[in-house]
Amino acid sequence: MTVKIAPSILSADFAHLGADVDRVAPASDLLHVDVMDGHFVPVITLGGPVVKSLRRHTPLFLDCHLMVDNPAVLFDDFADAGADRCIVHIELGDPRPLFDGLRDRGMGVGLTLNPPTPVESVLPFLAEIDLLLVMSVNPGWGGQSFIPEVLDKVRAVRQEIDAHGYDCEIEIDGGINATTAVDAAAAGCDILVAGSAIFKADDPVVAANDIRAAAEAARATAKGSA
Ligand code: DX5
Ligand code: ZN
Repeated sequence: MTVKIAPSILSADFAHLGADVDRVAPASDLLHVDVMDGHFVPVITLGGPVVKSLRRHTPLFLDCHLMVDNPAVLFDDFADAGADRCIVHIELGDPRPLFDGLRDRGMGVGLTLNPPTPVESVLPFLAEIDLLLVMSVNPGWGGQSFIPEVLDKVRAVRQEIDAHGYDCEIEIDGGINATTAVDAAAAGCDILVAGSAIFKADDPVVAANDIRAAAEAARATAKGSA
């Protein structure tokens, strides 16, 4: 019962980004890259130039979470930089033109929703996307507490994907550690993003593997009792 781990570089030391990526790489299935524009969320983080440097540094899948008001203007830059996938927010409105823009440039398509946004807003798109990201904190900062109420959304999306056989993974982002990973995995998440729980740990590889082990045990139990 494989659960993937995606360390969020938001909690890395940006002055030593390459070294920090190397520290987590042995326990990482993909890298979660948080892009913030200071408008969609108050914080500004990074853009195409940093993605380009990451691409030169690591073969890890670069999954770019775009917390920005106008994601389409970044697509050329991110495709050229070597981003593997971009995740866009449903709160911006009709996402289909964004999906087309990503596919046209050879990037994978992810869709996400904030904690207050109802799950019904994303259900119509599950057949068209590679990834549905359920935000389990309000975006903008690492180190916040997991909001357990979003697990109902994970369960609803899991049920819809399984019922129709859609080729769409479910990811969760915010407040994930070895404890919250249990409920997230039992609810049906395939990929767990974790920033502070991994990068702030004494041994990031041990921390990531602890999260994965807890999640895989919970997922196996949940499947067994289904
Ligand atoms: C929040 C970001 C998250 C964040 C998670 O806006 O989207 O990816 O880095 O950090 P933790 O795991 O510390 O909650
Ligand atoms: Zn994120």
